[in-house]
Amino acid sequence: SAQSPTEHWRPSIHFSPKKNWMNDPNGLIYFKGYYHLFFQHNPKGNDWGNMSWGHARSKDLWHWEELPVAIPHGEEFIFSGCVVWDKDHVSGLGDASKDLLVAIYTADYPNKKQEQHLAYSNDDGLTWKKYDQNPILDIQLLNFRDPNIIWHHSSKQFIMSVAKPLDRSVQFYGSKNLLKWDLLSEFSNQGELEMIWECPSLVELPIEGREKESKWVLFNSSQGVQKGFVGMQYFVGEFNGKTFINENTSDTKLFVDYGKDFYAAIPFYNTAPNEVMWLGWALSWQYAKEQPTFPWKGQMSSVRKLSLVDTHEGLRLKQDFQPDFSSLEPTFQAKDISISKPKFLNGMKMLQGKSYLIDLEIESTNADRWGLKWQSVDNPKEYTVVAFDENKKQWFIDRSHSGKILSPGFFKLDAAPWVEGKAKHVRVLVDHSMLELLAQEGTVAISSLRFPHSIRENLSVFSEKGKLDLKQITIWEVK
Ligand code: FRU
Repeated sequence: SAQSPTEHWRPSIHFSPKKNWMNDPNGLIYFKGYYHLFFQHNPKGNDWGNMSWGHARSKDLWHWEELPVAIPHGEEFIFSGCVVWDKDHVSGLGDASKDLLVAIYTADYPNKKQEQHLAYSNDDGLTWKKYDQNPILDIQLLNFRDPNIIWHHSSKQFIMSVAKPLDRSVQFYGSKNLLKWDLLSEFSNQGELEMIWECPSLVELPIEGREKESKWVLFNSSQGVQKGFVGMQYFVGEFNGKTFINENTSDTKLFVDYGKDFYAAIPFYNTAPNEVMWLGWALSWQYAKEQPTFPWKGQMSSVRKLSLVDTHEGLRLKQDFQPDFSSLEPTFQAKDISISKPKFLNGMKMLQGKSYLIDLEIESTNADRWGLKWQSVDNPKEYTVVAFDENKKQWFIDRSHSGKILSPGFFKLDAAPWVEGKAKHVRVLVDHSMLELLAQEGTVAISSLRFPHSIRENLSVFSEKGKLDLKQITIWEVK
């Protein structure tokens, strides 16, 4: 290809493959000191195809090491799925004297069928053998995919969530040995139903500030003809080993992230019970094929720790960046500043082109809008805004003037509603083409990609038609 490399857009603390296409994260598992990230990958090209599982690992969720392709496609494409540790060798597969990891994923026979297959590894996930008795689950459907498995302590079995995308439903299956799966129940007819459902996951999350209390949360990703929202939704409720009961009885649909670029996230298997973490594919199917990056195409979101938190409207998802970059030594800090017009941050020159976390604590404001603005040094007409609109009571990322615009829908404002009762506390993780906003104790999330022609930018804090009083602004360079 005559395309020239676009390394200035490559994130440094978010994973992207050295070259070629990537979509969903797969088989996230913490095992023997490493966080493993498998992913939907085309090992041979910069577009979707030849779907196989790529592989990377990290010790700190921040520096990633790419490894050889883990599960190559055959006549079947290797679609999304999960990895579990078969601690007690219940499957009886492989060498019983060594640790055994089991991958369960969708085998896609293009335009024929999707069935669930198994592969196993005796070398900590580096190489995999496809099970010779595949499929392990087949209900004769063209669309039936993305198994995600947890160990359910109280019913002492593995539970698989798997999507029937066209039915907008999730089926739950139970198994004692990872090979034979029995249908337990099906969850459908709730939440966002316009678009197809894929990549479900079920997980128990602790409730912040309520000792030893938890709830079950069911997630799924949705894509389709741009009817409105594209991304992930969740349901909060109970799981009894058989059925998931959604306890959100209001009509409110619960969405994970209001940016277009957060998709197909699944939790890590085998982390401590109060340390549920996940990451997603930082992209939307709407314009995925138009990504201008080369020689890679596709990058992951940051890792986020998940919990639930009380709000006036009920329990809501809370996400925190992982690791906790705010425990590093700050690169820049200022206290008690009052802003009534754009104020450029002097310390910012040295952060140009770097990756960093910004934290804003707001004291008070009477402005219409306030926030952060990145403006190109070379071309002032190019800028990106992350801000809060006091009149509309919404958070937003505006990338309509950020540089390269993809289509369709890329230029539209990514906006999230205000969560009543939570402080105006803002965190933005900036990593080249990636911007992630977590605000109001992590109950608000907006993840957006942008493709500025140059990442030589000035950063300012601004307020429009009024004053913004900041308690504190802190920046941590992350490298
Ligand atoms: C989600 C998805 C999955 C599927 C995979 C194929 O992004 O469509 O449903 O398994 O991508 O690459």
